[in-house]
Amino acid sequence: MSETRPQWGSRVGFILAAAGSAVGLGNIWKFPYITGENGGGWFVLIYLVCIAVIGLPIMMAEIFIGRTAQNSPVGAIRSLSRPGSPWIGVGWLGVLTAFVILSYYSVIAGWAMHYVFLSVEGGFAGLDKTQVDTIFAEFSADPMRSVFWHVLFMFITFAIVVGGVKRGVERSARILMPALCLMMVALVIHSIGSDGFKPALDFVFAPHNENFHWGPATLEALGHAFFTLSLGMGAMITYGSYLKRDDDLVTTSVTVCTLDTVIALLACMVIFPIIFTYGMEPDAGPGLVFKSLPLAFGKMAGGAIWATVFFLLLTFAALTSGISLLEVAASYFIDERGWSRFKASSICAAVILLMGVPTALSAGTKLFGSGFAQMTSIVFGENNGKDWFGVFDYISSNWMLPLGGLFISLFVAWRVSGEARERGFKSGTKFDRMFWGWVFLLRFIVPFGVIAVFLNLIGFFDLIGLTGE
Ligand code: PFF
Repeated sequence: MSETRPQWGSRVGFILAAAGSAVGLGNIWKFPYITGENGGGWFVLIYLVCIAVIGLPIMMAEIFIGRTAQNSPVGAIRSLSRPGSPWIGVGWLGVLTAFVILSYYSVIAGWAMHYVFLSVEGGFAGLDKTQVDTIFAEFSADPMRSVFWHVLFMFITFAIVVGGVKRGVERSARILMPALCLMMVALVIHSIGSDGFKPALDFVFAPHNENFHWGPATLEALGHAFFTLSLGMGAMITYGSYLKRDDDLVTTSVTVCTLDTVIALLACMVIFPIIFTYGMEPDAGPGLVFKSLPLAFGKMAGGAIWATVFFLLLTFAALTSGISLLEVAASYFIDERGWSRFKASSICAAVILLMGVPTALSAGTKLFGSGFAQMTSIVFGENNGKDWFGVFDYISSNWMLPLGGLFISLFVAWRVSGEARERGFKSGTKFDRMFWGWVFLLRFIVPFGVIAVFLNLIGFFDLIGLTGE
């Protein structure tokens, strides 16, 4: 297997691709709005702690598995345990999660692409709040347009993955990631001059108690750490499997986590200054990027240009993440079933495309929207029903990723032989003294944190009156 296994052209190529997977809608769309909803500063601090003590060790564990086994998740876990071991189920769960996440991720990425076009046309200039809200509501509820952008995004993702690890995934990351960073820097510089910059700095980096409840905030930060770092479904196992065995595990993981965190914070420093300059509220929820921002762009000098840059940035970020999701799905069929890369990526992309159609129709049809929500209220409680998109998003990011992350850390900490664990960690790194710290976090802190998330999801903390509300 290892002679024919594709490899990254260089370590920088790997870092760009892995950071490309991590940096996505999670950083630019979701992180700012959950920071806004949770009151800013304290939430950001807790999030940074979660990244350092939970996210980073799991990222190292995933890259460790892939790099050691030189195989995609299912085969990698098999070769580090034994054929028929129940741990292999973790690999299966990862492949399934890739299908589920990419199916709705692609729909939101499609919205971002559509907004690039609206911005180029100068689409938000002079509009009032109702008009901007209507643009979003009408577009997301229009089956033809939603499906069209979803199909286009899936097609581009497929076209890159089919090119292979070096010529497709790595090459695209080498172009898209520097472009993304440049656009981010330009947007931040533009924000620095605005009236809202100081209040935004204060909101994001100074402690505030308003809207902040440490229990729910901690759990939200922890859950988001998995999603934003692409952990818990084997994306980093897959990307790690294209590394050489003596590539440094510690510095690569630290670099990827740092890049992801810096981009998430910079996204806040782009979005909140705009929000505060135009007197809007930071806690607008998921509509922050698709409704509040366009309204502000419409009022800004040169707004069409800035809006175009922003939504292009969002599209690029989503694309490099979508690529990693499709790569996880396709690599399973390539490594385990012996399919050609073309067959694996085209069939996976087609299945994901079909799975995403109901999401694209969630806002516009009763069947997958309000009707579906009514049905699922049996499970989620009255008035809490979710449409198709909501169900997929909820199950994958709240349950499947943390569950996968939990098992991956338990696997590396308790199941892999001590000798393989130590040799794997220490090969190629100067930081071998961090080994025991890593094992300690994986053995005790990660399981404790993830189990707390699950207890919260099933309402345990409400039951014992610990939610802090
Ligand atoms: N990390 C991506 C984001 O923040 O948008 C989402 C993601 C990509 C999750 C790849 C999982 C994954 F395997």
